[in-house]
Amino acid sequence: MYITEHSVKNFRNLENTSISPDKGINIIFGENGQGKTNLVESIWLFTGCHSFRTRKNIQLIQDGCESSRLDISFFAFERDQTARIELNDKKNVWLNEVQKDTPRRLIGEFPAVLFSPSTLSIVQDGPGERRKFMDIAISLIKPNYAGALSNYIKTLSERNALLRQYAGKTADENMFFPWEAELAKTGAKILKYRLEYIDMIKKEAAESYSGITAGRETFDIEYDTFYKESSFDEEKAFNQMFDTLQKNRENDIRRQFTGIGPHKDDLQLFVNGKNARIYGSQGQQRSCALSLKLGEAAVLEKITGESPVILLDDVMSELDDGRQELLLERLSNRQVFITCCDPSQLLRLNKGKAFEIIAGTSQEII
Ligand SMILES: Nc1ncnc2c1ncn2[C@@H]1O[C@H](COP(=O)(O)OP(=O)(O)OP(=O)(O)O)[C@@H](O)[C@H]1O
Ligand SMILES: [Mg+2]
Repeated sequence: MYITEHSVKNFRNLENTSISPDKGINIIFGENGQGKTNLVESIWLFTGCHSFRTRKNIQLIQDGCESSRLDISFFAFERDQTARIELNDKKNVWLNEVQKDTPRRLIGEFPAVLFSPSTLSIVQDGPGERRKFMDIAISLIKPNYAGALSNYIKTLSERNALLRQYAGKTADENMFFPWEAELAKTGAKILKYRLEYIDMIKKEAAESYSGITAGRETFDIEYDTFYKESSFDEEKAFNQMFDTLQKNRENDIRRQFTGIGPHKDDLQLFVNGKNARIYGSQGQQRSCALSLKLGEAAVLEKITGESPVILLDDVMSELDDGRQELLLERLSNRQVFITCCDPSQLLRLNKGKAFEIIAGTSQEII
């Protein structure tokens, strides 16, 4: 898929600006605080997801204005399409001039993958960030996943409430039994989705990593869970989790939380066989996060049949010239938007289009 026109009105510091992007690479450059990320954010909203910076419409609307309007024309699923977003105290969306009841209806219609500086937290921060990465990526391709996950979280909080209720007392087996059975049942289902996803993304992310390091370094992902068998069986996973929940009950009452389940699982990321979070350099960690995102794009393309738009906000700064060039080579068959302050290295490659953003106005540089 690719965007042919994008125009923005009263969105953050972008008063009234439009671009006609290239089908390939688009460089969005300018000094700090000029509106580059704002432009990327205005494209991202068409995925149907929340902004990656805020959930409040008021922050997206230009100061002093009452509303904001975004229009996009794009080619996807073999046809020309349009979408519009109007922001006021609500977010109203139209797809091909038909108004939708909720922005979530855009999910799957406008596939895009975003890398922003906060994407690095997948590699650098705690397991919660890695679980969040998986949960969002899976929700975008498996419509039933979000429901299963919210069911799991609800059951987990109910068992945790029971643990608090029995603090300092001996547990009543009959009280815990139904919650533990339900938790193990939804837990095994979440595990199945996640293992399937990791299986798909693993190879793609490793290939991307190898591509941007010209084969000099390797990248591997492993899903770290209570279930240790080499092949997955949902019933076995259910039994293991159910047994452990019962066995650990007294311990969980003492610690006041449920110590086993997908909410405790993690993703291990390895560069050349070593844990990237602990041993990776800045550039290696950035390459890992980038490879995960490129892996996400490849899986999204396989499942939806449509090549997602790639939004790279501030990716280039920590990558050396070689990695930058190899990254662009890997993205050669996709539409890409890259923001940066200094475009000289990218402009030398003489590919696609470049837009300079100055005080919220974009201008194509020829
Ligand atoms: N609601 C708003 N109304 C008006 N201006 C806003 C609004 N929200 C943010 N801004 C302004 O947008 C500018 C930041 O834009 P943006 O984050 O896109 O910068 P950038 O070009 O990506 O900079 P950097 O290179 O530092 O990342 C700031 O000057 C900020 O004050
Ligand atoms: Mg920025």
